[in-house]
Amino acid sequence: MNNDNLADLYLIGTGILGMRQISAEAYDALSRCRKVFHLTSNQEGLKMICPDVVDNAGEYWTGERPGIVYKRIADKVVAEVKNGPGVANVIYGHPLFFDDINIELIRQARELDLNYVVLPGISCLDTLSTDLEIDYGDGLQVYEAQDLVFNEHPLNPRVHAVILQIGLFGTQNLTIPNAPCPEGRFSLLQQYLEKYYSPDHLVTIAFSDRGDEWTRFQLQCRVSEIDANRKNIFKGTTMYIPPVR
Ligand SMILES: C[S@@+](CC[C@H](N)C(=O)[O-])C[C@H]1O[C@@H](n2cnc3c(N)ncnc32)[C@H](O)[C@@H]1O
Repeated sequence: MNNDNLADLYLIGTGILGMRQISAEAYDALSRCRKVFHLTSNQEGLKMICPDVVDNAGEYWTGERPGIVYKRIADKVVAEVKNGPGVANVIYGHPLFFDDINIELIRQARELDLNYVVLPGISCLDTLSTDLEIDYGDGLQVYEAQDLVFNEHPLNPRVHAVILQIGLFGTQNLTIPNAPCPEGRFSLLQQYLEKYYSPDHLVTIAFSDRGDEWTRFQLQCRVSEIDANRKNIFKGTTMYIPPVR
């Protein structure tokens, strides 16, 4: 690629392990971009590829409702694209695995007839597969924790289940640090899972290494013990439920 075919907007994922997992094509695109917005812990690493890097973290963890935050950040990125091509929005993981800002950016890019490119990255689904040695070919269901419970999505206990954002279960707004964890915060999730699994069924609360101060974590507990383990369910963890054999 050369700058003649530079897109207006690139949606890029670094992978979970930060700059060590970034793909060659993502690296190449970033090195040609004039401005990079990101929500990762890789400000310095990204600056080694593109000199103009803006961390959007301050505008993300504001305590506001997610929809308001996503729209504001997408609007800011699109405003920059209006100054010319070669703008990137970078997140950790895969850019279209569970990322509402990038979905909003695609919506706006289509509406404005912008030329955009989405480049894949290694998602937490990939790293959890290797950390926990899961072959998703056996069958896989993936849900966001609150969506699972409040929209009563049915679970199939005979295939793998990956439940995202359990660390935000029982919270509404985007806040840092972790929301307080009163007893019972995970009771609704636990009760919902008990409809499909025996109370003794073992689940894993897992976090894959990010290559920064957030390192790999795994904790196994029974379905009946999820709320009792609430202090270990921190922001960023995922729950893995193995199939009932
Ligand atoms: C908004 S989603 C973003 C997913 C990201 N785009 C990806 O490709 O993995 C955030 C959720 O992904 C999961 N997640 C993100 N990073 C993780 C990690 N290092 N280990 C385990 N799960 C992770 C958690 O469930 C977290 O709440």
